[in-house]
Amino acid sequence: MHIGILTGGGDCPGLNAVIRAVTLALANECGARVTGIRRGFLGLITREVLPLDTAAVAGILAQGGTILGTHNRADPFHYFGAGGADVSDQAIAYAHELGLDGLVAIGGDGTMGIAHRIAAKGLPVVGVPKTIDNDLCHTDRSFGFDSAVAVVAEALDRLETTARSHGRVMIAETMGRYAGWIALEGGLAGAADVILIPERPYSLPAVVERCRQREAREGYTLICIAEGAREIGAGMTVARTLTDSPDPVRLGGVGAVLMHQLQPLLKSEVRATLLGHVQRGGQPTPFDRVLATRFGWHAAQLVRQGQWGRMVTLEGSAIGSVPLDAVAGRNRPVAPDHPMLATAAGLGVALG
Ligand code: F6P
Repeated sequence: MHIGILTGGGDCPGLNAVIRAVTLALANECGARVTGIRRGFLGLITREVLPLDTAAVAGILAQGGTILGTHNRADPFHYFGAGGADVSDQAIAYAHELGLDGLVAIGGDGTMGIAHRIAAKGLPVVGVPKTIDNDLCHTDRSFGFDSAVAVVAEALDRLETTARSHGRVMIAETMGRYAGWIALEGGLAGAADVILIPERPYSLPAVVERCRQREAREGYTLICIAEGAREIGAGMTVARTLTDSPDPVRLGGVGAVLMHQLQPLLKSEVRATLLGHVQRGGQPTPFDRVLATRFGWHAAQLVRQGQWGRMVTLEGSAIGSVPLDAVAGRNRPVAPDHPMLATAAGLGVALG
């Protein structure tokens, strides 16, 4: 058996742990040959591959990023390098030329959408969910999320030092796209006084009220705001638009927007810090290393059993799988009745 493996979309701590687990499990359990495709689906178009074996994946478990490289615009059905033309036949022909029996695609909803269409054209695919945002359907926890939350918690710990010392309002803006998971868990872990997420548009007077209370009592305030958060009646803050990307909108800057809204209404100085790609970089936490390893091993079992067209899932504590099209193009926001919101509110955290 000869299996290709690729990583698509943004980089994420734990990708190398999945690559390692898939390669080792297929080599050890059924003697399969594994070939890495470079830079997501782009490598199938530009014919860039890398042989993977036990030696090639040695020492990568704890490395951030992906040894294969990745790409967030490499869609063979709409290829930016050919003016948006469909080059999927060419990509699949190259996979057949390599002698691939199937592909393991590690990525988010965009990658799963492409994987589903590639599978429909005759190249069998197994998917592995990846995102720091934790917003994929059928995946209660995606690897990379715990590592991102750890960065946010540490950042809030550090910002608290300045907030307390200077009597300031310090705002940390997190990633997360249209879901508030990173801000919610990071904010709880870092003892934020205000947590603002896209699923609950905020009332500016409510945020001001909480900051004034804290000005009077504790003298400082920590705010954790998701990049997709917005004031009631306002739109999200868009940093840039990337044409040719499956989701062209890149959010960013709402922390600075909130800073300018709050400053004239408060006595304390207000400062904003955009955490940005710092949340995606560096080593995966031990939790993410183990989760990514379990996902990779399970993907190898789906391949061995010929269960193509499925994506690995984590529902509760059970690893399973669902058809690729159950995930493609969908996302999983924080539900209004999520117990973590009640926990935060019960502790006096303002949720906007
Ligand atoms: O989906 C992961 C993510 O890091 C989001 O949280 C963020 O909005 C986006 O990717 C940033 O993408 P890029 O690296 O293309 O700017």
